[in-house]
Amino acid sequence: MKHLLSLENMSTSDMEQVLNTTAAFKSNRGHDVKPLAGQTWALIFSKSSTRTRVSFEVGIHELGGRPLFLNAGDIQLGRGEPIKDTARVLGRMVHGAVIRTFAQQDVDDFARYSGIPTVNALTDDEHPCQILTDIFTFQEKRGSIRGKVVTFVGDGACNVPLSWIWAASKLGFELRIAAPKAYQPSSDLLARAGGRISCTEDVNAAASGADLLYTDVFVSMGKEAESADRLKDLAPYQINAALVKQAKPDALVMHCLPAYRGKEISEETLEANADTIFTEAENRLHTQKAILAWLVG
Ligand code: CP
Ligand code: NVA
Repeated sequence: MKHLLSLENMSTSDMEQVLNTTAAFKSNRGHDVKPLAGQTWALIFSKSSTRTRVSFEVGIHELGGRPLFLNAGDIQLGRGEPIKDTARVLGRMVHGAVIRTFAQQDVDDFARYSGIPTVNALTDDEHPCQILTDIFTFQEKRGSIRGKVVTFVGDGACNVPLSWIWAASKLGFELRIAAPKAYQPSSDLLARAGGRISCTEDVNAAASGADLLYTDVFVSMGKEAESADRLKDLAPYQINAALVKQAKPDALVMHCLPAYRGKEISEETLEANADTIFTEAENRLHTQKAILAWLVG
């Protein structure tokens, strides 16, 4: 039984398989194989979503399956039914699950108790489908990411940079995280990951010579109570025209979206890189179809 619970626990060869098959899903769209024929996949979401929800619903449908969207607040999970009971019920009725929630442990427990393929569609610890998509998008435009320099700017301790860390250590590129000390990943996690990963408060040094500048929201879902502090602390860590000048002349600028202009990225820089950023969003569909096919293959 395969799951995609984290990049921390995904092997390099499995990542490469997903990345290598995504291009075919993109170019063959409309003539898809149907590995999910006759299957129903539950999408259990405890947090808001546009891209992840729509790309999984459309992707499951295009692979022959039926998506069943379950807002966690509408099912008994939202009234306190344990995840392991929800998992044992759904595991007897549906064929796979895509889960967006807070605790990583809930996704891990769901996989264990349901006995069906389970996908992490974002937890507080990781956003693996996003980062696989980002790497596909980078490679589609610039070739292999191995040996390249990726600079993450902003809240360096949230799910998106944490998944970047595991990808860097497994796929052999350099990752620089530019963030205030309090927003850097723990030294324990960095030691576990190994690889060429560094953290600094010096945003210009981190961006210098980068092949990819990347950012995410300053206030992740679940952190709304910290909004005022976060917006103040992270304000110097904006991707804007001055920072882009520090990177390589052909550097890509990417953002997982949703974007808050004037906060983590300037309006001008977002619009100048809109083609890349919205291709990145589109590629969620193609990459996740490759993930689903890999899970059931
Ligand atoms: N990037 C991303 O996961 O977007 P959504 O929150 O809209 O799904
Ligand atoms: N770090 C962000 C990602 C949104 C796609 C969050 O968790 O809200």
